[in-house]
Amino acid sequence: MNKKYLPLFQPFTFKSGIETDNRIVMAPMTNFSSNEDGTVSDDEVAYYVRRSNGVGMVITACTYVTLNGKGFDGEFGGHSDEMIPSLRRLASAIKGEGAKVILQIFHGGRMAPPHLVDGDVVSASAVPAEAEGSPVPRELSAAEVDEIIKAFGETTRRAIEAGFDGVEIHGANGYLIQQFFSPHSNRRTDKWGERLAFPLAVVDEVKKTVAAYAKTPFAVGYRFSPEEPETPGITMADTLELINALKEKDLDYLHVSLFEFWSKPRRGVDDSRSRLEIIQERAGDKVPVIGVGSIYTADDALKALSTGVSLIAIARGLIIEPDWVQKVENGQEDQIVTKIDKNNQDKLVVPDPLWNAIINTPGWFPGV
Ligand SMILES: Cc1cc2nc3c(=O)[nH]c(=O)nc-3n(C[C@H](O)[C@H](O)[C@H](O)COP(=O)(O)O)c2cc1C
Repeated sequence: MNKKYLPLFQPFTFKSGIETDNRIVMAPMTNFSSNEDGTVSDDEVAYYVRRSNGVGMVITACTYVTLNGKGFDGEFGGHSDEMIPSLRRLASAIKGEGAKVILQIFHGGRMAPPHLVDGDVVSASAVPAEAEGSPVPRELSAAEVDEIIKAFGETTRRAIEAGFDGVEIHGANGYLIQQFFSPHSNRRTDKWGERLAFPLAVVDEVKKTVAAYAKTPFAVGYRFSPEEPETPGITMADTLELINALKEKDLDYLHVSLFEFWSKPRRGVDDSRSRLEIIQERAGDKVPVIGVGSIYTADDALKALSTGVSLIAIARGLIIEPDWVQKVENGQEDQIVTKIDKNNQDKLVVPDPLWNAIINTPGWFPGV
């Protein structure tokens, strides 16, 4: 290995005691490939196995905590105890390759496609997303909000029973937790209209569940998107408030969701640094940060790590190049593939639904 990449290969220990061998994380990626009944499919397991023996940690695709939170065709379920064997199969397969494994837990809220939720699309308030044709969601009752919070705890219990090393609370990308934090989608006048209330209640419920059930170290992370383009919408100032609150929750990590690691704030702060530098400063020593966004080469990862973030997550880059970590480790970093090879689906071990989504969405993956 070229010695300059050694910082990428330092082990990392989270507060909970979970330890990774290196600083590279597979970012959560939905693959649309689970079975109809919500169980994990053979193709999906093969896809994860292909990518789990170099990275320090794998964060799985999101899983729904209640049936009315299912956000994607071919998303696997974490909503009932019947799913525990399926979850266990996924966790064991990934751990068998040497990586730590984190289950991303989720509710789609107003982004759930109506056909997946019997047409009953729900959210904080009856405000549709801005994309044309978005359904008007039904505002959740206070009792339903309580049930969904409990469901995040229940899915965490299942993750513990299934052998995961932790859960990541999916508070990013416009889904239900973010919908409660956003002034665009949360116009409530009850206690849940306080925009931090729901995200923090979910964190508390998950932490309480871990304290009650985990007998060995179990990590809890939280993922968020720092800004929304809509007006009104989440600003960097809102996000700094969210971080202040999350810092007090004894979390293992914060994971920022971005497509570009070096992207700059749109509004809310008078600061010309990148969002991740600002977020890292605010998180300080209190909670480690995972950065992400268009990291394809070893030098990209090294430069990103120099901002002080603790770990680097890679999404598209690991679909394109499953041997990313091994190539850096073996001094072959110049052989890392950075554009998808459209003739190589079998070798890349990518299930058909994900592969079709990739090759039919121009501009999403480099090379398409
Ligand atoms: C195919 C695909 C599926 C994704 N699914 C999820 C998901 O389930 N949960 C999530 O938080 N982010 C999801 N993302 C976002 C990625 O985790 C990541 O933040 C984004 O792709 C930027 O990283 P990259 O530049 O390394 O691809 C997905 C991205 C891709 C490409």
